[in-house]
Amino acid sequence: MPTPSPIAPAGQSLVTAREFRDVIGRFATGVTVITTANNGARFGSTASAVSSLTDDPPMLLVCLNRSSATAAAVRDSGTFAVNVLAEDHVDLATRFASRVPDKYDGVPTETASNGSPLLVGAIAHLICRVAEQVEAGTHYVFVAHVEEATSYPGHPLAYFRGRFGRMQTAPEASVLREVRAGVLDAGSDVEEVIDTARWAGELGVDANLIHRALVALADEGLIRREGGRYLITPVPDSIIDEVYKAKLAIELGVAESTVAHATSDQLARLRELMEDTLGFVQDGRFTDPEGWVQANERFHEYMVGLAGSAILLDTYRRLGLPGLNLRALDRGSYASRSLLDDHRELVEGYEAGDLARVAAVLRQHAQRPLEMRHQDHLLRGEPANAALTAQPTR
Ligand SMILES: Cc1cc2nc3c(=O)[nH]c(=O)nc-3n(C[C@H](O)[C@H](O)[C@H](O)COP(=O)(O)O)c2cc1C
Repeated sequence: MPTPSPIAPAGQSLVTAREFRDVIGRFATGVTVITTANNGARFGSTASAVSSLTDDPPMLLVCLNRSSATAAAVRDSGTFAVNVLAEDHVDLATRFASRVPDKYDGVPTETASNGSPLLVGAIAHLICRVAEQVEAGTHYVFVAHVEEATSYPGHPLAYFRGRFGRMQTAPEASVLREVRAGVLDAGSDVEEVIDTARWAGELGVDANLIHRALVALADEGLIRREGGRYLITPVPDSIIDEVYKAKLAIELGVAESTVAHATSDQLARLRELMEDTLGFVQDGRFTDPEGWVQANERFHEYMVGLAGSAILLDTYRRLGLPGLNLRALDRGSYASRSLLDDHRELVEGYEAGDLARVAAVLRQHAQRPLEMRHQDHLLRGEPANAALTAQPTR
């Protein structure tokens, strides 16, 4: 086995670990699972710190935490495989990033010539032999020869700023922008089955590109998939009410378990994200609805993430709030500054460790979308929502 050659300990840096994570998180990567077998047991770890090194001879490097069971097994076996995940492999990425006892349970695999497990459905497999291993701080860097490399059709899973996503070619991105704008322009009371062929004709692009855009928009919650069709569905008050009730239940639960325990670093980040949301309302309108929805999403998701449960955060994301909010904000909807006041008060409540105050703000905050809609109706001279008229929230 190659012996580790340590890298000298770090010198002085002006950059904190948190700042570094935040900045380096802008470097988008693909996602792999590094697999190996050792003494009859199989190991695997999700890894994004993978890089090609030279093409002649073909070599790559992989950085694995020294506490990782997979790293220990790779050190022992001297062999591993890199499995490049496909865009629908978020579940696999999450599973192999966890410490569940049998990560391979129910996961279809084959075995590589060097004995490493290969995940079926990956878009590439690289069979590797360790040439050198270097100890660098908390990690080992494994420099390896690539003995076999195979690719398969499919699109890669991407990782950017702590979130999974899909990579897009420039034409895909521009079609997605157009289709997205078309859906948002439809307004929130429209019901329409999307005619893929017609949209492809109007935009002068291949129907496949439209289809890929529709898949992405359905993931975002902007449209709905039903059978093989994609639909723009109306966003009635009842749906907003239902989704916001679920959001409130999650946020209240999170507050209960986190308000007394948030660290000073977490509070500082929460304040930063709250401040990012403040510039988006002026004269009763959102200055940039998309910007608002994104900043609002980052703030709320960070708060939910404080609970430290990936499953809970995933459940929260599945509510599809950004999509719902974007669809609901049509025709230059009315925007209330109370949204921003709530955010400020929430952070102050967290900073004071005051659960009752945080819970009260969360409750009033969950009412804002319907309050704003109600106000919107009044401003437009449309019939107001009777239920809301009957139930003032403050
Ligand atoms: C997207 C993503 C990328 C990751 N990249 C790496 C990486 O490059 N190196 C690493 O050591 N851990 C990485 N991790 C964390 C490991 O997957 C995680 O610590 C895992 O539990 C290790 O499993 P093991 O102890 O069974 O080897 C990553 C996690 C995620 C979600």
